Amino acid sequence: MALQQTNENPQASAEDDYPTYIQELANGYRKSKILFTACELGVFDLLEDTPDRAGMTVAALVAEMGRAGDQQQQQQEEEEGAGRGEVVSKDGLERLVDACVGLDLLRVSIHEGTAIYSNTKQASTYLTRSSPKSMHDVMIFNSHTVYPLFHTLPSAVREGKHQHKKAFGVQSEDIFEALYRTEEERMKFMRFFYSIWSNDGPYILNAFDLSSFKDVCDVGGGTGVLAQQFARMYPDARVTLFDLPDVLEVTQKHFLTFGNVKLHAGDFFKDKIPEGDLYILAQVVHDWKEDQCLTLLRNIHSSCRPGGGVLIIETLLREDRTGPITAQIHSVIMLMHTVGKERTATEYTELLTQAGFRDVRVAHTGKTFNAILARK
Ligand SMILES: C[S@@+](CC[C@H](N)C(=O)[O-])C[C@H]1O[C@@H](n2cnc3c(N)ncnc32)[C@H](O)[C@@H]1O
Repeated sequence: MALQQTNENPQASAEDDYPTYIQELANGYRKSKILFTACELGVFDLLEDTPDRAGMTVAALVAEMGRAGDQQQQQQEEEEGAGRGEVVSKDGLERLVDACVGLDLLRVSIHEGTAIYSNTKQASTYLTRSSPKSMHDVMIFNSHTVYPLFHTLPSAVREGKHQHKKAFGVQSEDIFEALYRTEEERMKFMRFFYSIWSNDGPYILNAFDLSSFKDVCDVGGGTGVLAQQFARMYPDARVTLFDLPDVLEVTQKHFLTFGNVKLHAGDFFKDKIPEGDLYILAQVVHDWKEDQCLTLLRNIHSSCRPGGGVLIIETLLREDRTGPITAQIHSVIMLMHTVGKERTATEYTELLTQAGFRDVRVAHTGKTFNAILARK
């Protein structure tokens, strides 16, 4: 049998006499947590707000954080009779921002012996809350949910199943009951997806010409971020967002900014999905086992008009199992978090064909997510 060689990590074989690559891998979680912590403390937001984005000293950052913390904690502190203090230590923050400089997230310059920190372009664009391309909420979900979940990876591998009980104390076998265990968790989950599609949505929606589809339903569409992008891109289309009732209530209240999307509440395993020409399934199929995927796809097939289609949006594994590493890691996360997994284009094609769809076409965007379009 031929061994498959991947060039994805050229460093992996470059220096066999020193463990540079292994050290990089071993330190990965440290770098992630430094990034998450800087986001949580609002470092990038505060630096962005300085005149001409010129930046701040650590002392000024500490003072700003203290002011913000004061506002939030005022009531609690008054109740407890506690004095107001800085919410972060100068020494701790100095080490954190220096590490952010090392990670190329911040720049530092020394003026008269004092260090001034400012955002790099990447940090300005992707890590500040105010940016239209902000990934702040992706960082928060990763920090609060995915990072602790990774502690359970050994058990997940041993047991071959999700770890909601070990990670979060949730008994339910219903994965969305576990994911939406509190209103706060549901909000974090929804914000995470909203943030993902702010960057990736346009690549996906441009992967195929979808202009011939007039009645479009985003099934399990959550915040409706993709549905809204679709409605903007194709103003002639009538777009419906289908999801669980409680989710749509949150969507209506917090995420719907573009009026041209209709909401339809239901359970996509049990209820009839509205009749239409195109069904979008973005990061939905990967949540479920094969039999559940087939139930969902058959349900969609029975509502789909002849000539209509289904657009599956997922990260795709290569057929030869060599990567991409992003999809392989997603699949590990799916093991701990859901009953599903990531799949190859062939596996999706088999599911679609079994559900009655034909003419399956795959579009690789070159980014994290790819699109698969099949017709009825
Ligand atoms: C992984 S999220 C993806 C959300 C959205 N498609 C996106 O990419 O932003 C899966 C979505 O499926 C919805 N969902 C889960 N079970 C469902 C069910 N039985 N019926 C309808 N929607 C469901 C969830 O509420 C959630 O919005």
